[in-house]
Amino acid sequence: MIETIKAHIEEVKAFQTDTKEQLEAFRIKYLGSKGLLKDFFAEFKNVPNEQKKEFGQVINELKTSAEERVKAIQDALENKEEAKGIYGDTTRPGEAMNIGSRHPISIVKNQMIDIFSTIGFNVSEGPEIEDDWHNFTALNLPEYHPARDMQDTFFIQTNPDVLLRTHTSSVQVRYMENNKPPIRTISPGRVFRNEAVSSRSHCIFHQVEGLYIDKDVSFADLKQTLLYFTKEMFGKSKIRLRPSYFPFTEPSAEIDIYWGLKTETDYRITKGTGWLEIGGCGMVDPNVLKNCGINPDEHTGFAFGMGVERIAMLLYQIGDIRMFYENDVRFLEQFKSSI
Ligand code: DAH
Repeated sequence: MIETIKAHIEEVKAFQTDTKEQLEAFRIKYLGSKGLLKDFFAEFKNVPNEQKKEFGQVINELKTSAEERVKAIQDALENKEEAKGIYGDTTRPGEAMNIGSRHPISIVKNQMIDIFSTIGFNVSEGPEIEDDWHNFTALNLPEYHPARDMQDTFFIQTNPDVLLRTHTSSVQVRYMENNKPPIRTISPGRVFRNEAVSSRSHCIFHQVEGLYIDKDVSFADLKQTLLYFTKEMFGKSKIRLRPSYFPFTEPSAEIDIYWGLKTETDYRITKGTGWLEIGGCGMVDPNVLKNCGINPDEHTGFAFGMGVERIAMLLYQIGDIRMFYENDVRFLEQFKSSI
């Protein structure tokens, strides 16, 4: 009996067909309610005790072999049919290729780069993982300076010298260390702050930093540059420079643009004032120039830093900053025509 079952196992393993009918006949023969397996299982009680173990093993093997064979042939037949469906009909219309779209942050960042490059600014980049010197100390923020608290920092592990940059101002330090004036550069990039996430702020966002160092650069040059930028970027020419404080600039100012209050999103983003702060700016502090190897008696300069998300939210009327990072294609696909 055991030998007969073993022969069946061989037969099952070798079974092949390319019709569904034959497969079904095969299934009924072995696995059907009146199939061979049923008979063999019924036979079990008549088998002498010492053979029961081996008998049990072989009928189980026959069962799983038959089941596996049926499944494998079934899958193969289905695949064949599917393949016929896809390739068989050459008159079928093609499937449209899904074209991706640029992320709104990239679109705005590229626009900003374009605008500044027309007035002679090049693009420079720096690392996102920074050291204390480039992110703080060189920018006139020595250890224990209270203004360090303005930017809640993510440190890497427990080493206080390695951190995720809190602003792109770190890139201006690197640029000044490695280049001689005249300098005209913008540094777009991603920055990180340990802040609560809400509809208006996020722990990851983007800035574009600007730096201009030459002989006799004045605050008037800064104003003109920012005005030129807002006209090009927004088609608006009303800006406001509010006196402010940054350790790396003196004097310092906050840059607001007048956007107006036409839509509900305008209200939300500008907190009902029509004005939106898009960044900070000022004349580079002589200490910073010195720290970076530039003689402040010979050269002066201005710097600014602007938030890309803020600008994108205004331009595209996006009421919640979190949408930029969710990667929801229904959101992203809306920017296809903006490239
Ligand atoms: N780094 C500042 C911030 O993230 C922005 C800033 C202000 C950059 C003034 C500058 C500047 O270059 O001059 O809040």
